[in-house]
Order: sequence, then structure tokens, then C-alpha cells
Amino acid sequence: MLPSRDYVRVLDVLRKGLEDIAVKETSITYIDGKMGRLFYRGYSIFDLAELSSFEEVSFLLWKNKLPNIRELETFKKTMAEQREVPGQILEYLAKIDPSSNPMDVLRTTVSMMGTADRSDSDNFEKSIRLTSKIPTIITSFHRIRAGLSPVQPDSSLTHASNFLYMLTGQKPSEVEEKTMDVVLILHADHEMNASTFACLVIASTLSDIYSSVIGGISALKGPLHGAANSEALKMFLEIGSPDNVEEYVYKRLSRKERLMGFGHRIYKTYDPRALILRSYADKITSVKGNRNLYEIARKIEEIAVRSLGQKGIYPNVDFYSGLVFYSLGFSPEFFPTVFASSRVVGWTAQVMEYLNDNRLIRPKAIYVGDIEKSYVPIEDRS
Ligand code: ACO
Repeated sequence: MLPSRDYVRVLDVLRKGLEDIAVKETSITYIDGKMGRLFYRGYSIFDLAELSSFEEVSFLLWKNKLPNIRELETFKKTMAEQREVPGQILEYLAKIDPSSNPMDVLRTTVSMMGTADRSDSDNFEKSIRLTSKIPTIITSFHRIRAGLSPVQPDSSLTHASNFLYMLTGQKPSEVEEKTMDVVLILHADHEMNASTFACLVIASTLSDIYSSVIGGISALKGPLHGAANSEALKMFLEIGSPDNVEEYVYKRLSRKERLMGFGHRIYKTYDPRALILRSYADKITSVKGNRNLYEIARKIEEIAVRSLGQKGIYPNVDFYSGLVFYSLGFSPEFFPTVFASSRVVGWTAQVMEYLNDNRLIRPKAIYVGDIEKSYVPIEDRS
């Protein structure tokens, strides 16, 4: 006989959304949600965004130290050498329906990479491979959709510069390269978010790292997580002019609709990544001539913070990242894939850390149905 429902409820604590539940110890990322601070391996995101590079941050997250000059040079070379993707992936990209969701395409191609990888490389080497090849997949599909041929990676360029080069076919300007580098640094890890947790659940069964990353991509696809950036940009485009912002925002809030790119489970103040990206959005929209969208964003922020700030709702990383991606030449449907191209570093770093002290993740559910029901033969059912 099962214990009574009341008895079960006393013993079990239901934490919907696993809010405030810790699943691992980590030395990778620390978020101070009250003060709006973020640290990778102890280094402030403000310093890393200003002074570092995506390659250096990847090394830091994976290896738990800042590389010296020699280590960084070797590491950058290794990453650059891994950018080409297997021919079968390019063939697949050329054949599939161009209107396919780019996150679905990324998920499928990472799965193809996993199937093709029969090497006995360790998870670190596989993580480099994934991080280096994903931009090639994204930009190839982006160009194929636009009726253009993919651009071969250029190993003489940095990760950020090559990413933009493969997107547009042009070497980016200094401001474009720096903006891309910063946006990648800011997305590289964020502690125990939904997609990272999805990766860990898979890794904890001792499945492989490609399968974990596929889980991460699948979780990131949702509009409550990685797809909020494209939703935010679509909102700016729909509003059209700073003069329309006030009416739009109040109407939306009065209908109890959420503003995309606002709110966060951990940050109850400004997400520091949004603050950094705001200044890059300011710079890049001045150069690219889409200033109107930046002014719309600033006005939404001003009104929304006035209305929602007391509830702890402020812009999150997705509010300005969409505008930055758009200004750099990415179509909105591709924004979550660019997010994934950076977060793959955090996913794999967190997986490797978890596997050092693995425990199968197996939570529980509180049963609220009936038990001991009589089985009714089908012919006797109404
Ligand atoms: N716009 C308006 N109101 C909001 C918003 C928003 N974006 N976010 C939360 N609220 C309100 C809720 O309506 C709720 O109000 P109530 O208490 O009056 O009912 C209150 O704030 C608390 O909301 P919760 O859903 O409980 O907050 P939670 O911590 O679960 O939500 C989340 C976090 C899912 C990110 C939420 O803020 C949201 O939906 N934001 C919009 C989507 C988004 O930007 N996602 C990206 C997150 S960052 C990332 O994944 C990279």
C-alpha cells in the first residue's frame, strides 16, 4: 500500500522550475543576481569583455586559467585549424528546405558531426571541434538561404573575425570584429541555466558530449531562453519608430504580455551583459545606420524599467544582443544559433566539470493521481 497523499506531500518539497535548487558545485561561473555582477573563473565580465578575446575566454572556461602568450597562440591555431566541416554537412545544408528553423538545422548537423566523429579524442578536443565548426555551419546555411555560396573559413583570422567573414564574404571592420568578439564572450557561460542543465542531465548518464550539446541546443531554442533575442528585435521592427514605443509597451503590459528581453530568474537588477551590450549596440548602430532601432530599444528600456523595475524586471542579455546580431548582418531566425555557437563553450565546460564527480541526475515527481484503481475491460467502458 502506498503512503497517503498528505503524508507524501509533507515529506516531499515541490520546487517547480527547480528554483533555488543547486545541482552541482562549480568554479566556472558566478552570478551575483542582486548586484548584477558576473564572473568567469573569478574574472569580472566587464574586464573580460573589454580586455580579452573569445579564444582566451574559451581557454579560461575550459582550462581554469588565463593562457600565457605561447599557450594562447597555440590554442588559437588549434581552434582555427578545426573550422572546416565534413562535406556531407555542406551537402545536407544545400539540400534541406531553406525555410527550416536554423536551430533545428544546427541540432541535426551537430548530430551528424557526432556520428562522424569516431576518434578517441577526449572531451576537451571534441569541445574545440564543436566550437570551431559551429560558425561554419551557421554561416553556410545563412548564405545558402540567401541564394549565396558558403565562404571557406580563413585560418588567418580570429574566431570572431572569421565568423563575420564567412557570413558576409567581407573582412569585418575593427568595430565589427570587436563587437562580435564581445557578444561571443558575453554568451559563453551562465551557470545553471535551462540549456546547461539539459546538457548535464544527458552527460550524467555517461552519454557522449555531442549528445549533451544537442540537448543544450534543443533547450536554448525556446522563446523563454535563447530565442528571446530574435523576439526582442522583431518587437523593435514592429514598433517602427520611437514615437510608437509608449503606446506599444503600455498596451502590451495591460494585456499581461511579456516584453521579450526583460526579466531573469537570477538577476533582479540589470543583467551586466545587457549593460555591456547596450554600449556596443550604441556604437554598431551608429556605424551601420540603423540608429532608429537603438532609439526604440532605449525608449522601451526606459518605460519598462519605470513600470517593472520595482518587480526586479530589467533588460536581460537578449534585449540588446538581437540588435547587435542584426547590425552585424545576421537574420533574426539565426540569432539563437549565434548564441549557441558561444554557449557551447559553457555547456562543454560545465559537462567536463560535472563528469569529474558524476552522479546520475534523477529527480522525482510528486504523484497526485489515484492508485489502486480497478481495471475495467474495454467492452465495459463508457
Ligand atoms: N515582461 C513583463 N512582465 C514580466 C516579464 C517580462 N519579460 N518577466 C517576468 N514578468 C513578470 C511576470 O508576469 C510576473 O508578474 P506577476 O508576479 O505580477 O504575475 C513576475 O514578473 C515574475 O515572473 P516569473 O515568470 O515568475 O519570473 P521567472 O523568474 O520565472 O521568469 C523569465 C524569468 C522566464 C526569463 C521571464 O522573465 C520571461 O518570460 N522573460 C521574457 C523572455 C526572455 O527575455 N527570456 C530570456 C531570459 S535570459 C536567457 O535565457 C538568456
